[in-house]
Amino acid sequence: MNILVIGGAGYIGSHMVKQLGGMGCQVTTLDNLSNGHRDAVLHGKFVMGDLADSALLAEVLHAGRFDAVMHFASFIQVGESVEQPAKYYDNNVANTLHLLEAMRIANIKRFIFSSTAATFGVPQYTPIDETHPQNPINPYGRSKLMVEQMLEDFDRAYGLKSVCLRYFNAAGADPEGKLGERHSPETHLIPLVLQAASGKRSHISVFGRDYDTPDGTCIRDYVHVSDLCEAHWLGLQSLMHGAGSQHYNLGNGNGFSVQEVIDTAKWITGKPISVLDAPRRNGDPTHLVADATRAKQLLGWNPQYTDLRTIVTHSWKWEQCQVI
Ligand code: UFG
Repeated sequence: MNILVIGGAGYIGSHMVKQLGGMGCQVTTLDNLSNGHRDAVLHGKFVMGDLADSALLAEVLHAGRFDAVMHFASFIQVGESVEQPAKYYDNNVANTLHLLEAMRIANIKRFIFSSTAATFGVPQYTPIDETHPQNPINPYGRSKLMVEQMLEDFDRAYGLKSVCLRYFNAAGADPEGKLGERHSPETHLIPLVLQAASGKRSHISVFGRDYDTPDGTCIRDYVHVSDLCEAHWLGLQSLMHGAGSQHYNLGNGNGFSVQEVIDTAKWITGKPISVLDAPRRNGDPTHLVADATRAKQLLGWNPQYTDLRTIVTHSWKWEQCQVI
């Protein structure tokens, strides 16, 4: 198979490129390196470029003869999306529209899209399945939902078949230690906690201890990046076998609190971690856990790294290789 990976130099995209390479696929990565890293692309061809560059996009799509496109390139910070919505609608929506339009012209009919739990907004019940109403509460979530809706229209009008994968909290790192999370600035809990353990940060702030949970801190569903990539692979297989467009929620179905993550990190690293209590962060739901039954039943998804200790162990292995 011949796959174009947009954003293949980023956190999840780079793990996907490695996995596709391991499966014997021909891979081209297109990435503008705004958040990604050239040295994270371990397989295939690399094209430095931006989705807004329609001439380049047309050239890459025309030359590649791709069976499918996987799209990982987006801005992902909820807080930033509230402050700079134009940035999010421009990149996450308008640039994705450019991509879909270029795919239509190049007659490429299969698309795997990185969506998010943020499309659901404040949960009405938990765990969250695919029938849960989608009412995003920030521009980030709205930008992803808009693309999901565009994809329905592109299927109806042009026969573009897509798989939308709504990640809950992507976490962990390549079990072989070659890749991991490298955001700048880092905002995600597990890498921040591990940076506190390694001495790169003085402490970790806990955003709120007065939530309605057993220990008062927020609960999230941490899903290993390699398991997410496996779901992309299975989604790709299903499209290759002629399946129609699909949506899946991807998580482990297990919730862990912020305090449990910190305690696990202390145990795995054997290091002291200084913890400061901070006010609640705006827009944080109390409890976000996925019901991934549909992905398990229809795609045969069987996540391998569901234990929080394994996820943190892989992240810690990666963190220890990082120079400041
Ligand atoms: N947290 C802290 N201290 C920190 C960082 C995070 O206490 O320094 C807490 C947050 O308040 C939250 C939990 O740790 O309760 C997880 O926070 P992350 O920032 O790691 O992840 P989010 O749950 O906010 O975000 C994830 C994805 C987003 C997606 C969102 C869906 O990273 O892209 O889930 O709700 F939009």
